[in-house]
Amino acid sequence: MKVVLAFALFASWVQLVLGAPAVAGLEKRDVFVPPVLYPHAGTVWSKGQRHNVTWDLSNAPVNITNSIGTILLRKGDLATPVVLAHGFNIRLGRIEVTVPWVVPDSDYSIVLFGDSGNFSPQFTINGPAIF
Ligand SMILES: *[C@@H]1O[C@H](CO)[C@@H](O)[C@H](O)[C@H]1NC(C)=O
Ligand SMILES: *[C@@H]1O[C@H](CO)[C@@H](O)[C@H](O)[C@H]1NC(C)=O
Repeated sequence: MKVVLAFALFASWVQLVLGAPAVAGLEKRDVFVPPVLYPHAGTVWSKGQRHNVTWDLSNAPVNITNSIGTILLRKGDLATPVVLAHGFNIRLGRIEVTVPWVVPDSDYSIVLFGDSGNFSPQFTINGPAIF
C-alpha cells in the first residue's frame, strides 16, 4: 500500500507539474479523478466532529482502474501523514471522516485518491482552545 500511495503521489505530482498523464502504458485504463465537492472553501471543521467528504461521480467511467479510495489531509502545499479514510469504494461518492486533532489553521485541504489525487479547496480546522 505504501508503494502504491507513493506512486499515486508521484503520479499526481507529475500530472500537476507536467500537465500530462504521468505514465505511458496507463493511458488505456479509465483514470477517474473525481472533483471533491465537500469540504469546500469556507468549510469550518472542529476536532472530533464527523463529516461526509463528498465527490462528484457524474463523470465516472464504467471501469475504474483503482476503485479503492484513500483520503489524506494536506496542509498548505504539503501532504501530511494523516489518513482520514481508506479502503472505501470510490463509487460511493462520500465517506464519513472524523476531524483529527491538529493545530487549528485555515489552510487544510483533503486529497482524494483513487487512480490519482484530487485536492479540495483549502478550508479551516478549529481545534481545542489549548493552542
Ligand atoms: C453521512 O451520510 C450518510 C448517508 O447519507 C448519513 O447516514 C450520515 O448520517 C452522514 N454523516 C454525517 C456526519 O452527516
Ligand atoms: C469494462 O470491463 C468489462 C470486464 O472487463 C468489459 O467487458 C467491458 O467491455 C468494459 N467496459 C468498458 C466501457 O471499458
